[in-house]
Amino acid sequence: MDLSAFPYLQGNYAPVAQECDWSESDLTLEGKVPDKLVGAFMRDGANAAFQPNYYVYPLDGDGMVHAIYFKDGHVEYKNRWVETNHLKTERKFGRTIYGSVGKLLPVPEDVIEAGGEPSPIRNTANTNVLYHGEKLLAMWEGGFPHLLNNDLSTVGLYDYEGALQPGDALTAHPKICPETGQLISCTQRWDSPNYWVQIFDKNAKHVRTIPVEFERKSIIHDLQITDNYIIIFYAPAFHSVEQAMKGEDPFHWEPERGSKVIVIPRDGRGKNMIFETDAFFSWHYCNGFEKGGKILVDYIWISSIPFTQAQGTGVEKQPRRMYRMTLDPKTKKVTQEQFSDVFCEFSRVDERRMGKEYRYGFAASSNRDWGDAHGYNCTGRYDFETGEVKLWEYGPDANAGEPVHVPNPDSDREEDGWIMCFVYNPEEGAYLSILSAGDFDDGPVAKVRIPTRVPNGFHANWMQGLTL
Ligand SMILES: [Fe+2]
Repeated sequence: MDLSAFPYLQGNYAPVAQECDWSESDLTLEGKVPDKLVGAFMRDGANAAFQPNYYVYPLDGDGMVHAIYFKDGHVEYKNRWVETNHLKTERKFGRTIYGSVGKLLPVPEDVIEAGGEPSPIRNTANTNVLYHGEKLLAMWEGGFPHLLNNDLSTVGLYDYEGALQPGDALTAHPKICPETGQLISCTQRWDSPNYWVQIFDKNAKHVRTIPVEFERKSIIHDLQITDNYIIIFYAPAFHSVEQAMKGEDPFHWEPERGSKVIVIPRDGRGKNMIFETDAFFSWHYCNGFEKGGKILVDYIWISSIPFTQAQGTGVEKQPRRMYRMTLDPKTKKVTQEQFSDVFCEFSRVDERRMGKEYRYGFAASSNRDWGDAHGYNCTGRYDFETGEVKLWEYGPDANAGEPVHVPNPDSDREEDGWIMCFVYNPEEGAYLSILSAGDFDDGPVAKVRIPTRVPNGFHANWMQGLTL
């Protein structure tokens, strides 16, 4: 592959070519791996298998999951591509067939006649990996999720026993309600501007659909829950499939329209509340909750849609900051407060506090001027009680992935858990970092060093109880 034309396929963004199985004797352990943990840390990400024609970060690239399995203080590692129909078709033909979401390619007739995947839009399965209702799913927001086995082998597309209809695109950012175990998710469609909240019970059985109508399809990536509501941001960020097919810039930012915040009752009863504010974009929420009749939402604020055809020219270096938004249902007023001036993304919380009052947010963060690396060299802890931000730096040129809070099974305190993320440091190689959630001053309590590279990726989760 010649990746020289693509800024987001350089350095540790470059894909790896191998699928590996490393036992504990192949891995190098530093410090002490918590021996109470039984489960797996998994992270999905983009790992192009064939030469791209074009590449939009973070939307393109075949999904690959990297996993560290924990049991009785011992660890193992695996990485596998998600075997999507698009990837299987390209492997069968031995070449690139499908284009980028920024520049789609028509699928050749001979590929379709030979039974290859006919959709020009690649189901990348690269965005998130989640374990809910004993289903391990690799997720992408443009189509069905893929069901995986615990060893990361692919079972295939998963439609929730027929709950998803052909053309439904399930979000990669559902939330799990810590009280009911429900999965609060949504579907969108390439052929409709509308949005459907989809609720599944703790066993992954479909419970309810709540439709939300829009005049125009916007890029809605994440959602937030509170005790009573589902919250989404409708930003003036649009994508045109027709323009992508013509090779024109399909992404549009129309700030004069402002952004809307839609608050949807979780029980499907009552009217949605719509709040209007100045235009902003966000990929990720940190958390949200109700307090004193108001709704508070912590999230990563971005000034505009963070990708264009001009990628690599610096346009994507715009600031990203932790913000707290307060919504007043009585006055419909939106108050925005910048929480810190630290550059950050991939915000997470102790999932037992999802939708509830909480103290700590965690995010991939940077203490450097935003350079070409587009990397986060720190894990940040954002204390919403004191306002303090603590950064643990892995090295000036390191890249740290999404930090996942792994609870201590013997404690319900946020501080007693561990914060795990993959780190790549040019001087050290790849490792899983395990920080104490309550103590960012002394750095990782353990590192699991991996002999092969783990490219920068997207979303990660702790899979409680999942073993090989
Ligand atoms: Fe995301």
